[in-house]
Amino acid sequence: MNLFPGPILAIETSCDETSVAILRGKEVLANEVSSQIELHRQWGGVVPEAAARAHVEAMLPMISGALSRASLRHSDIELVAVTHRPGLLPALMVGVTTAKAIAFGQGVPVVGVHHMEGHLLSPLMEHDVPFPHVCLIVSGGHTELIRVDAVGAYEILGETRDDAAGEAFDKASRLLGLGYPGGPAIQRAAESGTPRYELPKGLKGQTFDFSFSGFKTAVLRLTEKEGDELNVRDAAASVQETITSVLAERALNAARESGARALTLAGGVAANRALREKLATGASRRSLPFFVPSFELCTDNAAMIGFVASLRRRLGLPMEEGLDLDVYSGGDLPGIVR
Ligand code: KG4
Ligand code: ZN
Repeated sequence: MNLFPGPILAIETSCDETSVAILRGKEVLANEVSSQIELHRQWGGVVPEAAARAHVEAMLPMISGALSRASLRHSDIELVAVTHRPGLLPALMVGVTTAKAIAFGQGVPVVGVHHMEGHLLSPLMEHDVPFPHVCLIVSGGHTELIRVDAVGAYEILGETRDDAAGEAFDKASRLLGLGYPGGPAIQRAAESGTPRYELPKGLKGQTFDFSFSGFKTAVLRLTEKEGDELNVRDAAASVQETITSVLAERALNAARESGARALTLAGGVAANRALREKLATGASRRSLPFFVPSFELCTDNAAMIGFVASLRRRLGLPMEEGLDLDVYSGGDLPGIVR
């Protein structure tokens, strides 16, 4: 794989995880992650200004920590990579401002990376994934099926028309009183439950799109109808079974119909064990190679951001760069067609 050879410092602050990584070629020398889950639990979700303040507090010690783990100094860094979209603006601003200051101080380039491209290419960090392949990206804000023809050449095959899969997990968890963040809480409760409640799977027929808004309403109705009789573990198992089966079914069909040579899974929801198992079993039945990153590369991390910068830089693909680098709450992946 063609990668930028020198040490890269990467920073990720798009949501509620502060992360700093150092990469050299294929090697991840450090990938520090500091989660703000405990901070945001009191509000039941991420508060952008509180997230930004926590990123500021965590940032400098984490950079020092990452450099010392990698046995490098600031002056060894040859490229600074930072998530500059999409995400919470006050949170993104902390990472981008820090990245620019370091790049300015060291006289090296600073490049902006699209957070979702980090997730999309994360399976390539540990595996030789053939092109073209289909990636199911599932996170708190995104649910997409993307055909990856090459680094920087992407086609959306399907996407959610309303809520993201992670959002569906989070909202269902809140309705069931299981707390925040919802995905891991639902997974834990589902382990000792039976998926006996019927929940809607969203869009019917031949489509690679998803819809989870009716699902959320159905969970609300279920809690109202059952009241104190509701078995929360069975409800959690039903939520997990419904979401993961619709994701797996569409992803496997999309891979088959688009002539993909492999299937990958990425994003925070990729940490879900039931989803990983369903895709692994389905892919093996179809003799389709299936790749998923290790857990620490599924949830938000800076290593995947540095990896994208490394690939794009080496391949000469365009990236926003320089000291006027800006932050954006949204925006399409670079090189994507619909
Ligand atoms: O990629 P990510 O860390 O942040 C975003 O870019 O959004 O994804 C966070 C999402 C949350 O909705 C969280 O509930 C979900 O990933 N998640 C899970 C699991 N771990 C995290 N969902 C289901 N099962 C899990 N084990
Ligand atoms: Zn993410």
